[in-house]
Amino acid sequence: MRIDVSKPHWRPASTTDITAIIAIAERIHPDLFERPDVFAEKMRLCPDGCRVLVGDEGIVGYGLAHPWKQHQIPPLDCFLASLPDDADCLYVHDVAVLPFARGGVAAAYIRTLEQLARSSGAVLALVSVYATRPLWEQFGFRSVTTNAELRAKLACYGEAATYMLRDLAAAPSPRPPTPNDDIRIR
Ligand SMILES: CC(C)(COP(=O)(O)OP(=O)(O)OC[C@H]1O[C@@H](n2cnc3c(N)ncnc32)[C@H](O)[C@@H]1OP(=O)(O)O)[C@@H](O)C(=O)NCCC(=O)NCCS
Repeated sequence: MRIDVSKPHWRPASTTDITAIIAIAERIHPDLFERPDVFAEKMRLCPDGCRVLVGDEGIVGYGLAHPWKQHQIPPLDCFLASLPDDADCLYVHDVAVLPFARGGVAAAYIRTLEQLARSSGAVLALVSVYATRPLWEQFGFRSVTTNAELRAKLACYGEAATYMLRDLAAAPSPRPPTPNDDIRIR
């Protein structure tokens, strides 16, 4: 596979990336604080779901995902302890990219997760924040009607937080691959 090194590319995250990941999280999510150890635990529990976006400037973004249960939201800044044996979705905890590196870069990460999710119920789940719902709809996610318990858990993510699911069996990715998607995955 040809790699275009001038383009940001996704690679598996390692624990040595934590400092860079935290620096990005603090900048992008100043109101959604999580401890470094909470990030590190996700990387330990699900290394295949945790990746960093690397550009010429170093790490410019990250994505964290792990198997979980549909309609359940792990509280922010809390340890998962373990992954559920009966996981029925791959939960996308966060995708964050520094502003200067944005422009369709999340697509390649989501495509990696699609492959991974096929062993966790073939469903992707996430909490959309900052009015990013239209972005996730482009990837085939749909907002889900929430009960009182889920709404209470969504509250800590801010007012616009929306719980969304994407059933991979029902809807193939509606967003066509960009020419650089494949070469960005390592
Ligand atoms: C989410 C993110 C990783 C996507 O990066 P990307 O794939 O490079 O995508 P872009 O940032 O170029 O955005 C893609 C589209 O979504 C839109 N979008 C992105 N963030 C948005 C927001 N907060 N509100 C509304 N629209 C938004 C963009 O305008 C763009 O629309 P277009 O395709 O019509 O031009 C990046 O926008 C980001 O880091 N955002 C801040 C953190 C965040 O909100 N993460 C999601 C947590 S659920």
